[in-house]
Amino acid sequence: MKMVSAWFALACMIAISSPVPASSATPLPKGYTKWRKSERKVVTDKGSLFYGIHYIYADKRAMQGYQAGNRFPEGSTIIVEYFNIKEGSGAAVDGPRNMIVLMRKEKRKKETGGWLFAGYGADGAPSGIDPATTCFGCHQKDAGQREYVISTIKDFKQ
Ligand code: HEC
Repeated sequence: MKMVSAWFALACMIAISSPVPASSATPLPKGYTKWRKSERKVVTDKGSLFYGIHYIYADKRAMQGYQAGNRFPEGSTIIVEYFNIKEGSGAAVDGPRNMIVLMRKEKRKKETGGWLFAGYGADGAPSGIDPATTCFGCHQKDAGQREYVISTIKDFKQ
């Protein structure tokens, strides 16, 4: 028993002393690429902020929310992965990943409509963006009546 508690104490010390990146950075949930995935979405307009290819991943709770007409239960999590378009492929081939974004329903995040917004680089490391100034505006404008989630269940029909 003593050994076990000593190891536990050690593990706690390591956990506490390891550097925390941005103060409240949310790590990407493990295994999200196994969640329900949207159809492949391609934006070929180079003038668009969304130029490239993207896929939306939704966990079980988020899928319930989409099915209920964008009424999401607490904890619902939605992730979008963005890829470049491979040069000369006519948008047929995904280039390298360039960004990941996440939304998780958390009632306490009142400033951003009851959702946690987080952005990540291509490697999955938190990019430390300010969600209130960087993310929420568009979602509020485009999906104020849909709990700030722009995509709908239609994006998940094959
Ligand atoms: C310029 C407007 C704009 C900004 C700024 C923006 N988004 Fe979005 N976001 C969109 C649009 C449009 C979609 C829908 C994409 C689709 O349906 O293919 C979307 C979709 C999403 C989704 C999938 C769920 C949904 O609403 O459809 C997540 C998660 C997301 N964005 C997170 C973020 C995060 C995090 C940020 C800040 C880093 C951000 N967004 C900034 C416009 C924006």
